[in-house]
Formats: sequence, structure tokens, C-alpha cells
Amino acid sequence: MTPEGQVFLCWFWLLQMLHVTEGSGKECECPSASILSHFPSEVPSDTCCLNYSGSTFNQVPWAAFLSHAHLQVLDLCNCNISHIDHSEVGDAVSSLRELYLGQNRLTSLPGDFLAKAYSLEVLDLGENHLKHLPEQFLQSSDKLRALILGWNQLSALPHSALKPSLEHLELIGNPWACTCSLLEGLQGGPHINSSSLQDLVGNLTCASPQNLAGRTVWSLQTSDVCHLANL
Ligand SMILES: *[C@@H]1O[C@H](CO)[C@@H](O)[C@H](O)[C@H]1NC(C)=O
Ligand SMILES: *[C@@H]1O[C@H](CO)[C@@H](O)[C@H](O)[C@H]1NC(C)=O
Ligand SMILES: *[C@@H]1O[C@H](CO)[C@@H](O)[C@H](O)[C@H]1NC(C)=O
Ligand SMILES: *[C@@H]1O[C@H](CO)[C@@H](O)[C@H](O)[C@H]1NC(C)=O
Repeated sequence: MTPEGQVFLCWFWLLQMLHVTEGSGKECECPSASILSHFPSEVPSDTCCLNYSGSTFNQVPWAAFLSHAHLQVLDLCNCNISHIDHSEVGDAVSSLRELYLGQNRLTSLPGDFLAKAYSLEVLDLGENHLKHLPEQFLQSSDKLRALILGWNQLSALPHSALKPSLEHLELIGNPWACTCSLLEGLQGGPHINSSSLQDLVGNLTCASPQNLAGRTVWSLQTSDVCHLANL
């Protein structure tokens, strides 16, 4: 083997080692929150967890978290966030495993928000004012275990969000439109039977269409809402 070949192999081995260490060092100890009154001009880049829970950020420049290759956990709960500025994000891949954005004032999310969050396992968007989610929401997040969307203004759920890997799914407190698409999504999503899906998700109430308002989603059959489409 040429010396160049040996150097290459050595690098390859080193990179593998680093990768393995990173994988086994999955436990990331989060500090208690740094409560700030403004978004920091520089986000620390030497930690696996950033905890700004309880701060007052009206908007958040998402690119600030993406230059940060080791960030695994980001807690932005209860930060009065009404807007996520997704400019300058481009094709960046997110390394986040856990993202907490609950108890904010978000009404919408950027179209390709978290489009490349391959490592994401936990996402909390509960207690916001979200009216809809991006069409291909969480399309790359095949490791997602927990998705919290409770207490928003959602009426529809993109099928891309209903990952087979989900163990915890919170949808309660939204004005669901009990359409064929919603029912088919719930039934075709997490690979669990509908009785355990009901245990998992709890009681979901239909807010529309008018003739189904007040019914629970679980009292409906796909044939109740899909038959017109199949004619
Ligand atoms: C962030 O800090 C708050 C309060 O200090 C704490 O309750 C919360 O669990 C922390 N977040 C994470 C992800 O550990
Ligand atoms: C939260 O944001 C709203 C609107 O941007 C603002 O009116 C309000 O004062 C903020 N709350 C706090 C605690 O800063
Ligand atoms: C559905 O899931 C529940 C709870 O996991 C289980 O007890 C039940 O046997 C399952 N039913 C079918 C038909 O698989
Ligand atoms: C769901 O609703 C049914 C009937 O209204 C009730 O018996 C049941 O306890 C509820 N389940 C949960 C988890 O709230």
C-alpha cells in the first residue's frame, strides 16, 4: 500500500472512531435555562444542549443553530417566539435530537422547517397558535419518537408527520377536520392498531365538517368519511 493509502486509511479509521464516540455519547446533560431578554448575538458552539427556556425572543434566526454541528438538544420553550426566521438556512442538515418549542406564539412554520432533521427524536410544538404545518413536515425524521402538537389551531395533519417510529403523539386540543385524509393518515401512520392508537393519542374531537362536529375521531370509520371520494 502506498503511504498516501495508509494516511487515507488512518483518517478513515479516525473518523469512524469519532463517529462511534459521538454515537455512544448520546447522553447530553442539559444545563438549567439561561434566561435572556434578547436573542444572543453569538450562540455558544461548544455544548450539546442549549437551554433558553423562559427567555424573551420574539423571533429566532434559525441559521444560528445550524452552524453548530454538535447541538443535540435545544430548549426554546416559553420564549414568546412568534416567528422563526428561516433565511440563510439553505440545505443545512440539523443535528438536533430533541427540540422544544412549546408554549410560544407561533402561528406558522417556515415551509422547509426541519426538512433535513434526520436525527430528530423529540419535537414539542405544543401550546402555540399553529394553524397548519408545512406539507412535507418532518419528511426526513425517521427516528421521531415523540411529537407534541397539542393545544394549537390545527385542523389537518400532513401524512409525512405520522412516522411509524412514533411512541408518543399528542394531538389533543386542536379543531380537527374529520376528513378522509385525516382518518387515513391516522390509520396508515404509526404501525399500531387503532385501539392502541387511541390509547396513544387520547380522545380527539372533530370540529368540522359540521355534521361530524363534536364526534370523537375514533367513533368514525374511514368508510363514513371516505365513501364519497371512492364513488
Ligand atoms: C431547561 O431549563 C429548565 C429550567 O431551568 C428546565 O426545567 C428544563 O428541563 C431544561 N430543559 C432541558 C431540555 O433539560
Ligand atoms: C411577547 O411578544 C408580544 C408581541 O411581540 C409583546 O407584545 C409582548 O410584550 C411580549 N411579551 C413579553 C413578556 O415580552
Ligand atoms: C391492539 O393493541 C392492543 C394494545 O397494544 C392489544 O392489546 C390488542 O391485542 C391489539 N389488537 C389487535 C387486533 O392486534
Ligand atoms: C374518551 O372518551 C370516552 C367517552 O367519552 C371516555 O369514556 C374515555 O374515558 C375518554 N378517554 C380519555 C383518555 O380521555
